[in-house]
Amino acid sequence: MNRIEGRVKVTGLATYAAEYPVEGVAYCYPVQSTIARGRVTGVDAGQALAMPGVLAVLSVEDPPDLAEDADPELALFRSRDVVYRGQLVAAVVAGTYDQARAAADAVRVAYQPQAHDVRLRADHPDLYRPETVNPNLPPDTDKGDVEAGLAAAASAVDVTYTTPPLHNNAMEPHAAVAVWADDGRLLVYDSTQGASGDRDSIAKTLGLPAGQVRVVSRHVGGGFGSKGTTRPNAVLAALAARAAGRPVKVVFTRQQMFDLTGYRTPTVQRLRLGADADGRLTAVEHTAYVQSSRIVEFAEQAATPGRVMYATPALRTAHRLVRLDVATPSWMRAPGECPGMYALESAMDELAEAAGIDPVELRIRNEPTTEPDGGLPFSSRSLVTCLREGARRFGWDRRDPAPGLRREGEWLVGTGVAASTYPARRGPSQATATVRDGDFVIRVAAADIGTGARTVLTRIAADCLGVAPDRVHVELGDSDLPAAPVAGGSMGTASWGSAVVRACEALRADGGEGSADTTEEVKADEELARHAFGAQFAEVRVSSVTGEIRLSRLLGVFAAGRVLDARLARSQFVGGMTMGMGMALMEETLTDDEFGGFLHRDLAQYHVPACADVPAIEAVWIDEQDGLLNPMGSKGIGEIGIVGAAAAIGNAVHHATGRRVRDLPITPAKILA
Ligand code: MOS
Repeated sequence: MNRIEGRVKVTGLATYAAEYPVEGVAYCYPVQSTIARGRVTGVDAGQALAMPGVLAVLSVEDPPDLAEDADPELALFRSRDVVYRGQLVAAVVAGTYDQARAAADAVRVAYQPQAHDVRLRADHPDLYRPETVNPNLPPDTDKGDVEAGLAAAASAVDVTYTTPPLHNNAMEPHAAVAVWADDGRLLVYDSTQGASGDRDSIAKTLGLPAGQVRVVSRHVGGGFGSKGTTRPNAVLAALAARAAGRPVKVVFTRQQMFDLTGYRTPTVQRLRLGADADGRLTAVEHTAYVQSSRIVEFAEQAATPGRVMYATPALRTAHRLVRLDVATPSWMRAPGECPGMYALESAMDELAEAAGIDPVELRIRNEPTTEPDGGLPFSSRSLVTCLREGARRFGWDRRDPAPGLRREGEWLVGTGVAASTYPARRGPSQATATVRDGDFVIRVAAADIGTGARTVLTRIAADCLGVAPDRVHVELGDSDLPAAPVAGGSMGTASWGSAVVRACEALRADGGEGSADTTEEVKADEELARHAFGAQFAEVRVSSVTGEIRLSRLLGVFAAGRVLDARLARSQFVGGMTMGMGMALMEETLTDDEFGGFLHRDLAQYHVPACADVPAIEAVWIDEQDGLLNPMGSKGIGEIGIVGAAAAIGNAVHHATGRRVRDLPITPAKILA
């Protein structure tokens, strides 16, 4: 299907958070800490308050009324402690945006600085093992005897990879407009991946009952995880509106987003793999070093993919975390699997070379019958089919494995492969289906963050009701609608779709109104290993003169259950693969050791792929029947496209040049070095 909201989007009529016309709206501009660690000893707002249009200055000098148990990330202006550079220490509310920004510049903040430490290292003395890693997994697993497996291996690798901090950089900045009604109800137009959860979290932060807050987010211009949790823009707008006695709008700038809306942790990952003479794994060890802030613990599960991917008698995975003077890392497209599979799939390529076995064949030989770590049966697993189909489409059988051999003028040409995986989960959701003027109305507080959720839910409902899609009207993006989980973890469609199907079934049985709550249904789901899989094939051309790397082809073959809409699915896969290309070759936020915070703060410095960078990107899928997932038989597809893409490209760069760059991104400077 074409996107239902496509027309309003391309004609500029779709309303994003900052665009709702609100009578008498004022503007709020943040003041951010200029030190990375220490205390705010004083905030002098005198000059700012005297400037034109200024309505209020918020700061730690007059801490706002917030719930005692508020999330420390959202408890704005309550503590004088500065724990990272860029932290919100004050904010100015004024009649116009320019007045607020000018006055924010005039707020004088005095600090007592302390020495800071912003650098993740695998030998950091403060590394520790967290109790759990996201999303509530054991930090370490240990099966069999890894040392014996490595000692007995015919070939082995012991390699360390690093990945830099990465920023989500959704196209629409984080923004919110807060409106307090006379009866004390708060309306927030927010840019969020989940209106229900956002409503709950704003209410909790402000110490209000959830019923007193409403979040509206009908159109969202991307999030990639950075809008999966409530961000300070929403709380700041609410506090500023309360202080000013007027509705208030907050729109973070791109530079503020680099500090205030999350990023993917940098990682250091050590992989030790061994294989016997036939290429069967004898041991897999994956250790991931990641960072968090001093505010809250966020432990990215980068070492977990080995628990899912390959058969091995000995498997050890471990996470070590260090709390630094940095902003808290957060969710970014395929958290865990994305950096983790970069390292594992690069190491598999190095093992294939060491063992003299084709890298596609090496993976096929290590296909497990049950989940390698837990031993659970798979609901379905089509990795081998993806690898074979990808190899066939790509022309893999014509590949000479020797690196650095193919040259066209100044260009060295190489190809690489890597596998993809991502969990296929679902969560409880509510939905209703009703009849209106002979048409059907579906209500669910789902979020369409640009993925096409509105469209795919229309199609799911139309299928279930047996009517044409144009007779179905989906209402989403509003916390007053039936409660629904976040558009995250690649589980939006599976979760909301389950509730929509049940509501439509109830409507068909009853005739008037159908409502559904899948809490019990989801709770009763059998314990199984549910994952999508894929295989990515890359061809790169590397200039022997400048070190420039051009991705000339990227093919992804995915197995993700039943694909509900081909056009929307292709868009998700291609988008993820493109983001994986950015991770491989461009994306990197430099950390500022001297002053703390980040040196890269905008899209001039933080490079993302443009259309011209991806001349031939192709996503296909195999038809996978899996009746053990949800009523649609679908697996999530929002994240798997990024998983494995960077490894496939890095493996291709090695094949082209004979050089193995183990520190992302793979830049011309690293090639020339
Ligand atoms: Mo995604 S990082 O689960 O929003």
